[in-house]
Amino acid sequence: MRVGVLTGGGDCPGLNAVIRAVTKSLIRQGGCEVLGIQDGFEGLMGDAPRVKPLSWDEVSGILHIGGTILGTSNSANPLKNAETLAQVKRNVHTLGLDVVVSIGGDGTQSLAYGLANAVGMQCVGVPKTIDNDIANCERSFGFDTAVATATEALRRIESTANSHHRVMIVETMGRNAGWLALEAGVAGAADIILLPEIDYDLQTIIDVCKAREQRQRYTIICIGEGAKESGQSLTVRERVEHSPDPLRLGGVGHVLRERLQPHLKSEVRATVLGHVQRGGDPTPFDRVLATQFGHHAAQLVLSGQFGRMVTLQNGAIGSVEIATVANTQRQIAADHPLLTMARDIGICLGQP
Ligand code: F6P
Repeated sequence: MRVGVLTGGGDCPGLNAVIRAVTKSLIRQGGCEVLGIQDGFEGLMGDAPRVKPLSWDEVSGILHIGGTILGTSNSANPLKNAETLAQVKRNVHTLGLDVVVSIGGDGTQSLAYGLANAVGMQCVGVPKTIDNDIANCERSFGFDTAVATATEALRRIESTANSHHRVMIVETMGRNAGWLALEAGVAGAADIILLPEIDYDLQTIIDVCKAREQRQRYTIICIGEGAKESGQSLTVRERVEHSPDPLRLGGVGHVLRERLQPHLKSEVRATVLGHVQRGGDPTPFDRVLATQFGHHAAQLVLSGQFGRMVTLQNGAIGSVEIATVANTQRQIAADHPLLTMARDIGICLGQP
């Protein structure tokens, strides 16, 4: 078999671990020829495909390295028009690919699903995102690393907040899901955690900060980039035309700072953690999970189970049809135990 491997969407710690595991399994178990497609679906668009052979040696020594040796793109959209679809179809045919392993988030899985339908490209999906928002997957690799990075940032912010008696706002990534903000906020001992799933009430935040001005004299607020105040609109950093995910969020921490400052004696400062959360080496947990995902993807390929995406559900690695995860995002349910726990131990979630 000749198998293509690509990484799509925003990069994420653990991608190289998946590339390594899927390639080694395919070579060792199936004697496959593996081709790395460069820069996500972009490598299949254009007049000629952009690929590099993935040999055993090529994928050795990359387990612990952040980013992706294949490059990625979160703006390439092969479904954009008939011309790009024809390019992909021709390039897949020229390369003689039997199946493409697409490692990516919901956007990448949606594109893979779309290409399977439009040009008959066979796919096996591997879920990837620091946002942890892919349907049917309780933990995606990269998330643990991002939580660790954001948690460390929160702890560092706390000592300076405490010294200056400030209200410090720390903005995490996560798009429309608050998993990263919630877990980092809990692990980093934030006093207030604001999530996309729960519109916040400004007066409640003012009241908590004022009460803390009297006693602790500093407050840490962890806010997910997709959070918004009741009645206000989402803070969009930029719009990328033709991208499968056109709205790029970011900056809500600064918006909150401006809204809060007039009501408080303490100085209010905001830090946007940004891409520091996506970079760096994966944690041991993510290395193991990514290796399991890559290995399982190879099993799907070798058993001809195309059109499926690897999953982690109830602690077990399995798979679902890509169709069931395309164009969906997994948000935090209102009755999630972590929300109940946070409220019970006195963390403010932005509501009275
Ligand atoms: O989906 C991963 C993610 O890091 C989101 O948390 C964030 O909103 C987005 O990608 C940022 O994308 P970009 O790198 O294009 O700014």
